[in-house]
Amino acid sequence: MKKLFLFLPSLILLACQPTQTPSGLKENASFPVGTAIRAHQIINDSAMQAIVAKDFNSITLENSMKMYAVHQSESDYTWDHVDDVVDYAQQNQLRLHGHAFIWHSGTPRWINEMAPDSAKLDQIMEEYILTYGSRYKGKVAGWDVVNEALLDSTGTYRESIWYETMGEGYIARAFELAHQADPEAVLFYNDFNIERDTVKLHAMLRMVDKLKAQDVPISGIGFQMHIRMDTDEETVEYALKKAAETGLQIHLSEIDIIFNKHDDTPGGGIQIYDELTEEMLQAQAEKYQWLAEAYIRNVPAEQRYGMTVWGFSDKHSWIPSFFNLNDWPCLFDENMDPKPAYHGYMKGLGNSK
Ligand code: XIL
Repeated sequence: MKKLFLFLPSLILLACQPTQTPSGLKENASFPVGTAIRAHQIINDSAMQAIVAKDFNSITLENSMKMYAVHQSESDYTWDHVDDVVDYAQQNQLRLHGHAFIWHSGTPRWINEMAPDSAKLDQIMEEYILTYGSRYKGKVAGWDVVNEALLDSTGTYRESIWYETMGEGYIARAFELAHQADPEAVLFYNDFNIERDTVKLHAMLRMVDKLKAQDVPISGIGFQMHIRMDTDEETVEYALKKAAETGLQIHLSEIDIIFNKHDDTPGGGIQIYDELTEEMLQAQAEKYQWLAEAYIRNVPAEQRYGMTVWGFSDKHSWIPSFFNLNDWPCLFDENMDPKPAYHGYMKGLGNSK
């Protein structure tokens, strides 16, 4: 009796504690909230899994679904990582976004070394997209079918092996094949700087119009959205509005927000800020909030495929190693604790409800 008496106050205290766990980013949005992640992180790393479970309901594999990762020689495919991630995604109610079928940087070396003629490259593409797309039919919600086909400033076609060998028709062909492989999947053209480089944006929109006029099954536009603190907000809002006017699904597919600069080439970082201050953290929170609000303002609800960050922590961001740049682009810090950016993003997403 005495014992129970002693326990009573703590029992009452416990009962009064809120039982709900704090809600994550995904609960605050009316559209999918995604993150890029590496295959081993989502399959084996419990700290990463816990954050994904709380905050996200969509994932994109950062590298493991690129062509070089799955199609390692003309006669070989390696599916192990993708299979594991597909299973994990299904068991954990995560949407899986496919990144990417055709990308100059994702093209395996054996294709460049073979230097195929147009008929041969067409055959390689056909076999690859049909095999890959059908294998994950119904399990991958959408695909970046063609990634980064256009150049900055001029908006002309990038001279990749695909363009040089097959001409601009390689783009339509890739969409046709992806649609044949999985008629239900949302099929995206995905690119960077289209939110700020208006010449590139308009070239992309002309390309999309042309594809639609030819009945090519394109159903989405992906803005990678690797932006900077000084990226002009009006220009971004204009780009989102124009893209939404196509009626296609709009994905912000690779979001991060840096303080410094780079020239878009590997190692091309330009270090301006060496230290992160409290003011910078607050300004970044406002920029993340604005980005979510800009998406909601300019993209009608039925066209919101979602917003995806390209990694959620500064610890794992691709920016420092790729650009040789010290920066803090993400929602969580080096210790995997939420930054002000996380709370700003949460607030912005909340406006979609
Ligand atoms: C990046 C990855 O994040 C890095 O780990 C890798 O070393 C290079 O590729 N645009 C894209 C992504 O479409 O696939 C790129 O991902 C970042 C730029």
